[in-house]
Amino acid sequence: MKDFKGRIAVITGAGTGIGRGLAGHLTSMGCHVAICDVMTESMVETRRICEETAPAGTVITTHECDVADESQVIDFCEAVKDQHQTNHINLLFNNAGIGGGASFVLGERAEWERTFGIDWFGVYYCTRAFMLLLLNSSEGHIINTSSVNGFWACMGPAVTHTAYSTAKFAVKGFSESLLVDLRMNAPHVNVSVVMPGHIGTSIIANTHKILDTNLPADMTSEELVTRREWLEKQEIPTEDISDDDIRDLIQQNMDDFTNNAPLSGEEAAGIILDGVRNKQWRILVGDDAHRLDQMVRENPENAYDTSFLDNFQIELGKE
Ligand SMILES: NC(=O)c1ccc[n+]([C@@H]2O[C@H](COP(=O)([O-])OP(=O)(O)OC[C@H]3O[C@@H](n4cnc5c(N)ncnc54)[C@H](O)[C@@H]3O)[C@@H](O)[C@H]2O)c1
Repeated sequence: MKDFKGRIAVITGAGTGIGRGLAGHLTSMGCHVAICDVMTESMVETRRICEETAPAGTVITTHECDVADESQVIDFCEAVKDQHQTNHINLLFNNAGIGGGASFVLGERAEWERTFGIDWFGVYYCTRAFMLLLLNSSEGHIINTSSVNGFWACMGPAVTHTAYSTAKFAVKGFSESLLVDLRMNAPHVNVSVVMPGHIGTSIIANTHKILDTNLPADMTSEELVTRREWLEKQEIPTEDISDDDIRDLIQQNMDDFTNNAPLSGEEAAGIILDGVRNKQWRILVGDDAHRLDQMVRENPENAYDTSFLDNFQIELGKE
């Protein structure tokens, strides 16, 4: 799909970050969009931003929908048909996602399943619900957001990310198998799997809100025990560090994630749309993602060793 003008796009999780970036780029080119999110205020702000640059006549609708709840996804699809007066869509961006569910061994089952539910079942339910509308289009494209955690299942050898990685591997496997299915049975519909590296968004703060867990400033001493244990495992003594200093440290990491990333959500969205225009089925976003992909392929056996992360950081420093 070379031109997005006059097309209809559905974007999940467009309240902030990459989804907001996609909505902004698409509407500025005259693409009609239906966006969903669980955070209504953020979604309304996305619409306001889009309206500033969208040409007259561009339809922008907002929908409250939890993508992990199939009945809400079906209602969302019905609302899109009704409000856009359409029986087709051209683009489905399965973008909504959260972090969480870090350790399978130590974490709570409810958090693990909520993370997996959004990151995998969200993609599955939306693709099921919107498939007929994509098949009804003259040209369609499904864009599923996985992650570098779709081919590398941690954030480093000492940082667990089990629910997220499991879901993102599933999204990648689903997209690749769908690619073959669509080529055989619906060649007018394409699929891409998006694998971003580090993008500066509010995903960590949003994850706390959605999982209803405390932000660093509100973390109790009890909650900080596991953080202390983790620091001790990294051979960082914590007996002289106060709870408040640990809270500040966690907050600093969160702020660095958002503010010191190589790419913004808007820039990531631009790269994703270029990939769609070029019919790329694998869309790696960022130099870090390209490098990691190459390194895991070159030496998969070593991917979860400390030396792998050290080499990755050395390689990134060269770029
Ligand atoms: N930021 C990164 O470094 C990074 C890296 C790799 C992959 N990703 C993926 O990119 C996608 C977008 O993330 P982002 O970084 O822009 O984060 P973000 O938090 O800024 O955006 C995600 C949006 O999804 C929404 N959302 C969460 N759960 C939802 C649900 N159940 N139903 C509907 N909406 C829901 C959030 O409210 C938020 O608006 C996610 O799938 C994420 O896993 C991000």
